[in-house]
Amino acid sequence: MDLLIGNRRYTGSKKALLEDIYTSISPYPKGRIVFADLFAGTGIVSAFMLGKGMSVIVNDFLQSNYIAYQAWFGCGDYSKKKLERIIAEFNSLNSSKLKENYFSKIYGNKYFSVSDAKKIGYIREKLEKIKLTKREKSILVTSLMYATDKIANTVGHFEHFLSKKPQDKGVLLKLPHIEPFIGNATIYKMDANKLAREITCDIAYIDPPYNARQYVNFYHVLENLVQWDKPTEFEGTSMKFKRNHLKSDYSKSKAPMVFKDLIDNLQAKLIVVSYNNTYSAKSSASNNKISESQLLDILSSKGKVTVSEIKHRSFNSGKTDFKDHKEILYICKTNL
Ligand SMILES: C[S@@+](CC[C@H](N)C(=O)[O-])C[C@H]1O[C@@H](n2cnc3c(N)ncnc32)[C@H](O)[C@@H]1O
Repeated sequence: MDLLIGNRRYTGSKKALLEDIYTSISPYPKGRIVFADLFAGTGIVSAFMLGKGMSVIVNDFLQSNYIAYQAWFGCGDYSKKKLERIIAEFNSLNSSKLKENYFSKIYGNKYFSVSDAKKIGYIREKLEKIKLTKREKSILVTSLMYATDKIANTVGHFEHFLSKKPQDKGVLLKLPHIEPFIGNATIYKMDANKLAREITCDIAYIDPPYNARQYVNFYHVLENLVQWDKPTEFEGTSMKFKRNHLKSDYSKSKAPMVFKDLIDNLQAKLIVVSYNNTYSAKSSASNNKISESQLLDILSSKGKVTVSEIKHRSFNSGKTDFKDHKEILYICKTNL
């Protein structure tokens, strides 16, 4: 089976909410609609809207997400046969014959077994050396990133690794299934507030981080794997590289201010904002940074707002779970 865009664990992914998001915008006339996904994460919302024939502007400030958009939605050339051959070679590698490398020395025996980490590091290095088009490289790095995520010794993100010793799971790359979309995608890796000043769209979909948990802390291992700058300084036992420049203002106390700046500068006919109702979780880091009244006030200054609630399972089910979790869509028909 080929790899699909949704075959990835991602906190806050809207994979289960695609139809709800589409319903919220469907009174909107059909035709050549430009849909801007400013905090696109996995890119699954963009993929869905491309499938509905829209043109998409897709953006996230993490390189690991940007490279995946190049793979799934890019327009460069690639040879499927060549990719199949390379993937088959990678999948038949015998890890016991590989030497320790950058990736295995840092993450081996923590997030992965040493054997699996050696294979991941070897393949990533090889992707710098073999002759590939830009698109082929994006596709193979994305395939490796998905394979790495699948076998990680974590609860689903890389804030910490599990205390149990990682087992050999094998690194299995799959060929991404790339859809021939009708609409085209314009891909960015920018701060959403800067991008908002540069684009005009029909629908802007805003799905920022909701709380103090930084996405770069969740996905630092994948970000390091994709960037491949091989930093040598790490923080703490969880081996996070220095990443202050990748921390989001939406996870800080200034979140209401940056959200207002974003909305004020957006040129869109419809603005759809995803947020949830987590304001009294047991762990304060899980509580939302922008209050409901702030969201409503800021959006109301731009146009008429309606609110739609969707019941949704919280990502951190268990002791810290917030009962009666709801995902909320704030839909603002602007005066533009
Ligand atoms: C809730 S997730 C989006 C999930 C996405 N809708 C999906 O379905 O996969 C929020 C995303 O915003 C990105 N992000 C955070 N701050 C950002 C900023 N200032 N500019 C651009 N992207 C940002 C994070 O990297 C993360 O991927």
